[in-house]
Order: sequence, then C-alpha cells, then structure tokens
Amino acid sequence: DEARAEGATAFDFTEVEAGVDEMHHVADGYDADILLRWGDKLFADSPDFDPKNQTAAAQEKLFGYNNDFVGFIPLEGNPDHGLLVVNHEYTNAELMFPAFASIVKEKVTKDGKEVEEEKVTLGEYTKDLVDIEMAAHGGTVIEIRKVNGKWQPVLDGKYNRRITLNTEMQLSGPVAGHDRVKTPSDPTGKKVFGTVNNCAGGVTAWGTYMMAEENFNGYFGGELADDHPEFKQLKRLGAPGGQYEWSKFYDRFDVSKEPTEANRFGWIVEVDALDPTSVPKKRTALGRFKHEGCESIVNKDGRVVLYTGDDERYDYVYKFVTKGTYNPDDRSANMDLFDEGTLYVAKFDEDGTVTWMPLVHGEGPLTAENGFASQADVLIDTRLAADALGATKMDRPEDIQPNPKTGKVYVMLTNNTKRKAEEINAANPRAKNAFGHIIEITETDGDFASLTSRWDVLLKCGDPSVAEVGASFSTATTKNGWFGMPDNCTIDADGRLWVSTDGNNEKETGRTDGVWAIDTEGGARGTSKLFFRVPVGAEMCGPCFNPTSDTFFLAVQHPGDAGLATYETPATRWPDFKDDLPVRPAVVAVTKQGGGRIG
Ligand code: FEO
Ligand code: CA
Ligand code: CA
Ligand code: CA
Repeated sequence: DEARAEGATAFDFTEVEAGVDEMHHVADGYDADILLRWGDKLFADSPDFDPKNQTAAAQEKLFGYNNDFVGFIPLEGNPDHGLLVVNHEYTNAELMFPAFASIVKEKVTKDGKEVEEEKVTLGEYTKDLVDIEMAAHGGTVIEIRKVNGKWQPVLDGKYNRRITLNTEMQLSGPVAGHDRVKTPSDPTGKKVFGTVNNCAGGVTAWGTYMMAEENFNGYFGGELADDHPEFKQLKRLGAPGGQYEWSKFYDRFDVSKEPTEANRFGWIVEVDALDPTSVPKKRTALGRFKHEGCESIVNKDGRVVLYTGDDERYDYVYKFVTKGTYNPDDRSANMDLFDEGTLYVAKFDEDGTVTWMPLVHGEGPLTAENGFASQADVLIDTRLAADALGATKMDRPEDIQPNPKTGKVYVMLTNNTKRKAEEINAANPRAKNAFGHIIEITETDGDFASLTSRWDVLLKCGDPSVAEVGASFSTATTKNGWFGMPDNCTIDADGRLWVSTDGNNEKETGRTDGVWAIDTEGGARGTSKLFFRVPVGAEMCGPCFNPTSDTFFLAVQHPGDAGLATYETPATRWPDFKDDLPVRPAVVAVTKQGGGRIG
C-alpha cells in the first residue's frame, strides 16, 4: 500500500460491469454466498418457511423482510464468529403474500388524452396479514460462524433473537414518562411495544445494536384536527402517512384514537445483543425524527459521538456527544451513556465551516414562549427545534459514517429533485439534485466532539459523461464506476470508504444499485469502482465488514420490485430461482477465493 504510485487507487479488485439482470454480480475472484433469506430459520425450533401458509407466529421465529442495516459483533474478539444484527426495515405486501396483489388496468389522463395503464393493487387486508407484517418488521440477532471458509448461522445460538412489533421496549432518557408519551395502554409513558422502519443503524464500542427508526409516519392512519396540540409536529413529520393498514386493526396506530402513540416512534433503539432477554431502550436524548442511521465512535477524550441523519428533503444532519465517557474495562458502565449528553444540529456555512448548534431547552429560541416548555419538548419536536435554530436544509441526509483512521466523517446525501436554483447553497450545490452527493466533514484536530468542523464535497454523483448532471468523479473512474443515490456506507479495517446505493434503476440509468469502493485520500481521491451489484428491482443495503475485513456482509433489499411486480410476477426469483418460492430479500456474505482482505 505504502508503495502505491501517486494517484493510484487503493483498491485492486477487478471492477464489475454495471448493468441489469436477474442475478447478483461480485468482482472476479470473490464468492458472494447467500447467508440469510427472508423466512430462514433462526432457532432450533423454528418452523419451516411455508410461504403459501404464512402465520405471524412462524414469522416471529424466521428471518424478517427487507434486510437493511447489517452489523457484526464479534464473540470473544473472534473475527470469524459473532452475532450478525440485521434490521428489517419494511414489508412489500405485493411480493410477500400469495394471491394478494393483482395487476389492473386503469384509465388515466396524459397530455389531455385518456389512456389505459396497468398497475399493481393490493387485496383486502385481514388482521392476520397485518400481524405477519408486524412480525416481519424489526430486527434479527443471530450467531454466525465461519466453518471451512463459509459462514453459517448457528441455530442453537444462545443470543439468537427476533425483535418485532411485539417486543417490549423502554423509553429512556429525558422524554421517558412525559405526558406527551403516555397512552391509554401505558399511563407510565415508559413502555412501548416494537420498532418500525429500521433503516440503517450502528454497533457501539460496547457491542450494543443500534436501530434507527426512519419513516415511522407511514404506519399511522386516522386524522387529527389541525388545532390538536400534536398536529403541527406530526404534520412536520408527515404523520399520519397511511402507507399501511395497521390502524384498521390496532387503535394505537390510529392518531384520531391514540394521538400520542406516534410520539413513541422516531427514536433510536439500543439493544443489548448479548442479553436476549434485555428490554431494548428507545434513547430519547438522541432526538426524534426520521433517523436514517446512528453510527458512533469513541472520541479521544472517551466521550462517545453519534452521527445521525434525518432522511427527508430539506432536513438536517445531527450529532450527539455523551456526557459520560466510555469505560473499556466495564461494559455495564456504558449501557446508559446515550441517556445523557447534548444533541447538535449542523449548519454548513458557505466558507466551509460546520457549526454544531446545541438543541438545549432554554438556549437561544428553544424556550417556553416558542413552544418548548422542557427538554422533552425539544426532543419530541426535534425538527421544529432545529428549524428554530436555522440549521442547513440538506438533500436528504442518509447514513453518516465516522472514519476512525482519518478523523473524517462521511455524509451520504441521497438526492433532492425538488431543490430549486434559488435554494442552492455550497453544501447542497445542485438544483434538481437527482443523483445526490457525499460531504466529507473534517473534525478539528480529530476531535469528533468539536463544535466547529470543516466540510468539503467529496463527490457529486451521477453519470460524468452527461455534462448537465455535473458529476465530479475522478477521470480515472470508468463507466461502471459512477453511481447515483448514495445511501448506506461503511469504512473497512484499512479506513477505506464503501458506499451502497438506493434508486439506480434500469429505466433511468440502465444499471442496478450496488456497492462501490471510493478513494478518499491522495491523487486518486474521487475514484470509484463497482464491487457488487444487486439483482433487478433491489436496493443495496448493509455494507458491513467483519473486523479483519476478509468478509463483507451485504443486504439485498426488495429484490424483484420492478415493473408490475407481485408475488406471482416478481422481476426476478432471486435468490432461489424456484417457481414455488417467492423472491426473497437476503444477506450475502462476500469472501475472497483463497481468503484475504476484501478489495
Ligand atoms: Fe430507508 Fe433513508 O432510506
Ligand atoms: Ca434511501
Ligand atoms: Ca454505516
Ligand atoms: Ca435505503
């Protein structure tokens, strides 16, 4: 590596050809093996997957749907044996349930003419189907082990666990017990069941599994009068979104019946993966919004710094700094670090400074006169508080990843096609930003808790051969190497950046999503190479290395979801390719043939 010529890339794999088909593709010389599919057994007593006769009870013991974040927690420091923690973000009913969706013709008016169009519609929901959806959400903790060079789940692992909508959780931190989180079934304001829409996440230095609740608004139905005290903040979050039918069967998901239940979602959940009976905690000090992820790092002074993005057009980038410090010798002393500390929101100034503004009750505009009567109000209404502080409105902040080797932090901004020319700023430099960009934050003197940092645009994404796109990949980047819509990302053991994408599709770009390796240092900065691509209709999630970076875990989410896709008509039957099995989201374990570091 040291001998690398100036300007040469830090990655020496042979790039995958970009394109679209029913298969996944990995760089030559690597194996990409299916590790866990929706419906796979997680326990010794799990039932067989029976897709034509699904039940919620079976789904509670099987791998969930739409794997997103993947984390690896080594057991006794072993890079080849540990716990895989996986978020199950959402469900695709049309692909999950047999004979439920149908393709119908619909008359629509286009350019003043009436034309017929085909579309997928869902059948009538039953409570049983809703219960299966609830059991397919949440997360999985499963012991995995490498045996003869291949990873396999350990079905009798004592840590194995499914987390679903039925899992009891605790609200902890400043909001716990507040009137605004009390409900008819929970007068304590501390006990919540379940978590939803867990997109990206994180694993802490003390081996807990962090699950970010993202688009929780979509699970709530009903209506709230516009003079209801919760109306304004719920509207700011797009709630009730009504994308699911859960409110028909469960009053808590109907805001007209239980208007405070939605205040118990939109948090970051911390799970002690080493205790399968532990009650996961919703860490309210970290704020409430559409958290994409929650990656953290132990700062040089021992405090823990957590980065989290709010994935909505014109929403914000946040970081949280704990009050206490990490104790490497006493795991239990770290378990509630995220209950006390300061949440900051970022202002990206035109001169390249980031100012981290504290969201603290009583400071600046965050006072009772402005509707924030306590720190609980600041945290429940985080978006409104950040609006009041004048944070920089970003192009959909997704995963944010600190790099322990360089002290830099990478912010994925996936896209914002609505940004107008007059709304451009230095940190969001393109109008109609269809392909997104990546910002690199340089924390002052490697101090992640720093309240002022510097920032740069690492990459403006999109096809560099189309001038009006304005992409900024290096000229060494091939036609396979460019991408749009950065979403999740990770840093390998050598401090190198890998980015996975969401939204590249056959119609617009002639290529699927995938994972790209990106040079950030030296003369090759801005060079990107395609390492893996997903089958048609999927997005790429996960990316996670084991500690020695000789395994790369990747999550293929919603494969087959393209065109008029239903259970009967998926765009691919990946990964089984059997007529009697549905297409299935799955986690893939990538290893190098003959062993060795990835990439
Ligand atoms: Fe679940 Fe922000 O993507
Ligand atoms: Ca996304
Ligand atoms: Ca990440
Ligand atoms: Ca995503």
